[in-house]
Amino acid sequence: QVRRKTVRDIIAAKTGEPLVCLTAYDAPTAAIMDPYCDLLLVGDSVGMVVHGLTSTVGVTMEMMILHGQAVMRGSDRAFVVVDMPFGSYETSADQAFLNASRIMKETGCQAVKIESGTYAAHQIKHLVERGVPVMGHVGLRPQAINVVGGFKAQGRDDAERERVMEEARAAEEAGAFAIVIEGVAEDLADKITKTLSIPTIGIGASASCDGQILVTQDMLGIFDWTPKFVRRYGDLQSEIAKSVKAYARDVRARTFPAEAETYKLSGGGKANLPK
Ligand code: KIV
Ligand code: NA
Repeated sequence: QVRRKTVRDIIAAKTGEPLVCLTAYDAPTAAIMDPYCDLLLVGDSVGMVVHGLTSTVGVTMEMMILHGQAVMRGSDRAFVVVDMPFGSYETSADQAFLNASRIMKETGCQAVKIESGTYAAHQIKHLVERGVPVMGHVGLRPQAINVVGGFKAQGRDDAERERVMEEARAAEEAGAFAIVIEGVAEDLADKITKTLSIPTIGIGASASCDGQILVTQDMLGIFDWTPKFVRRYGDLQSEIAKSVKAYARDVRARTFPAEAETYKLSGGGKANLPK
């Protein structure tokens, strides 16, 4: 009997082995990753890497819930966190709780993640007090892309570094059980990780963090373009292209399907159809 990891296992990583985290959006891929990962994040990056949006701003509650349900069906061991999409929590603590509780009820996930500017401390505290574990997300916050003017690493000057540090402190004080740190230089990630007593999970934020996360499609090599902070562990783009090219060739040459792949009438007028 496998036991799904709990928030305690994630918190314990502050003093233990680094947390292994990846994004997941569908059941079969989640099932493949589940044995190796501590945490699977149903990231709102789904809007970009699965649905073809140019940012995460257009991602809806319905998308997050559908993908969250799929990942829960495909996994039984990893701690599953679902992102709260842009526009689902910023207005008020009540709005945040209505949407976070809906995500938890309809998907069965263990926690939600909020891109947490300092203002969001209010929402985080409200959710945690009411039974929703929250992961914060500081530094580069992709939902703020239209304010920043692009996907830009954060902490370029002292004021910006202090702001990111403040976001991290505010999330911890409000009761977040962990935070994602995205797109900051090593010295800042190191300082945040040493200051906070909750685990930090880095993406483009150096090896100083208490864990690492990547967008699965990036590390599997499904896109042409790889950001500096991504290591490509696979080359799915060429694997898929190679397979589809071979399939197209076989269909056009009528070599697929062959005998072995064909249902036929056999002796006595019986077909070899599956029962
Ligand atoms: O949406 C996402 O994939 C994320 C990770 C990059 C942390 O928020
Ligand atoms: Na996200």
